[in-house]
Amino acid sequence: MRRQSHPLKILVTRRIPEANLALLKRHFRLDLYAHSTAIPRRLLLSRVRSADGLLCLLTERVDAELLAAAPRLKMVATFSVGLDHVDLAACTARGVPVTHTPGVLTETCADFTWALLLAAARRVVEGDRLMRSGGYAGWDPLMLLGTDVHGKTLGLIGFGRIGQAVARRALGFGMKIVYHDLYRPGRAVEKELKARHAGFRELLKVSDFVSVHTDLGPGTRHLIGRREFGLMKPSAVLINAARGPIVDEAALVAALRSGRIGGAGLDVYEREPKMAPGLAALPNAVLAPHLASASLETRSEMGRLAAQSLVDFLALGRRPLHLANPKALKRS
Ligand code: GLV
Repeated sequence: MRRQSHPLKILVTRRIPEANLALLKRHFRLDLYAHSTAIPRRLLLSRVRSADGLLCLLTERVDAELLAAAPRLKMVATFSVGLDHVDLAACTARGVPVTHTPGVLTETCADFTWALLLAAARRVVEGDRLMRSGGYAGWDPLMLLGTDVHGKTLGLIGFGRIGQAVARRALGFGMKIVYHDLYRPGRAVEKELKARHAGFRELLKVSDFVSVHTDLGPGTRHLIGRREFGLMKPSAVLINAARGPIVDEAALVAALRSGRIGGAGLDVYEREPKMAPGLAALPNAVLAPHLASASLETRSEMGRLAAQSLVDFLALGRRPLHLANPKALKRS
């Protein structure tokens, strides 16, 4: 049998699950940056020159500079739901469709939001450190007292797929749920989740836990800063597993340090992978390295979606699923 030639080349910017690579290899030549840290920008710009397709992560900026360096580029698939690293307008103007991976990570990210919330409220990480340090001297009525979760008020900033999945779990804890979002789901969703829409300031004032589930964009950068911490309860816990720059991290450090708020559970950082000075020293912050979607099942599914969208569009000539800029296709 004659071997089929695979003329199109896909640049994959990081190690991803083997099954995802195998799917791509059936249809394309691969240029794999087989590392577990981000490809240096200069190398990315040079390797994308000969790429027909790009499978990238949220650590790679896809912007006018990259597009200019990629004369053959016909498609971008990002292994993420977030698109804030992609200049969609520039891709659309170049006729380059962009796909992402919504849906498959919703429940996993909601689970992790709860991991942060419970860990921060009940001081799980401080307890772990105490055990490992040999500092536990026996049960003590006043040791590491946290705050109850059940029956409290959860404020969700952003009430899309992940925000709603977080709310669904909160029902099991008997929490009151308020949310703030420009787009309101129908009454049926509000009723099912027993969720009440609230103004932004009201939400900050009444919530015991404030959890962020909005996209990062010009309207949400530093949405939560000094003024907002000033409105929150002194016992309030902030959870952010969305995007770091939504929270002014220096203001958060100040609020945690001064006791202006009670605690935080963070999965994302303003200048990831760096943290604001002082954050790592604060015992009332639970800090995770961007793990919300990091289950074996979900990461494999995200990679499968990204790889399949490249196969669909570039190898089979089909419209890919989860196209973020449908207008890019109208030009051709
Ligand atoms: C993770 O943060 C993602 O956008 O998928």
